Amino acid sequence: MIQINNITKSYVKGKKSIDNLNLEIRDGEIFGFLGPNGAGKTTTIKMITGILNPDEGDILIDNVSIQKNPLEAKKKFGFVPDSPDMFLRLKGIEYLNFLADIYEIPSDIRKQRIEELTKKFEIQDALQSQIQTYSHGMRQKIVIVGVLLNNPKNWILDEPMTGLDPKSSFDLKEMMRKHSREGNTVFFSTHVLEVAEKLCDRIGIINKGKLVFVGTYEEMKEKFEGKGTLEELFLEITDEL
Ligand SMILES: Nc1ncnc2c1ncn2[C@@H]1O[C@H](COP(=O)(O)OP(=O)(O)O)[C@@H](O)[C@H]1O
Ligand SMILES: [Mg+2]
Repeated sequence: MIQINNITKSYVKGKKSIDNLNLEIRDGEIFGFLGPNGAGKTTTIKMITGILNPDEGDILIDNVSIQKNPLEAKKKFGFVPDSPDMFLRLKGIEYLNFLADIYEIPSDIRKQRIEELTKKFEIQDALQSQIQTYSHGMRQKIVIVGVLLNNPKNWILDEPMTGLDPKSSFDLKEMMRKHSREGNTVFFSTHVLEVAEKLCDRIGIINKGKLVFVGTYEEMKEKFEGKGTLEELFLEITDEL
């Protein structure tokens, strides 16, 4: 469960990039965070994961505050950032072992998980190569595998489908569904409305730092139907594709 309470953030004085955001992502749901480029999705995710501090407000992950108790809170989620360009000089296998060390995963379990997950995402042949030789999609996959090694309760993913080939994208969506069915929380951002429609239990739409809608896809259709606003909103979202 992720609780976002009254979050406000400005990068530049007088210009709120996030404006009094309130949101609760429940156990057992896939929540899609939608909005056009520059809406504030990544900024929000950076605050949830403790990379940025909000100017005001508080964020709890399974009831632990990311600001007040960051180490404890960070044990409760796995995070896939929008640009998976990290530890580029490490070989894939070194990166995964490094993460497994941090998470203190016993060697027999880690070996089995690495095998299983890298096979699933078809990157087992790349594990002996440095990450800097990987394509964007492969980097995305190794980061996802790294996060899944620890099997965290809360998954937080920033534009996770971007750069993935159709099969991996399909597999990831299936894994998100399975994870939420098991009572866990999946929070991801996207600017692709279609993904949200098919995958999410609920969606939130953010525009210019303000939450403009929270609910199911059906509720969103009802809310905006006949007002012309839905199309405008959709256009704004899909315009950025
Ligand atoms: N490091 C930064 N410095 C100044 N402004 C930023 C920075 N990062 C993001 N912004 C601004 O904050 C707003 C939200 O950006 P972002 O959270 O990246 O949006 P999204 O992920 O929805 O595309 C945008 O107006 C963007 O220009
Ligand atoms: Mg972003």
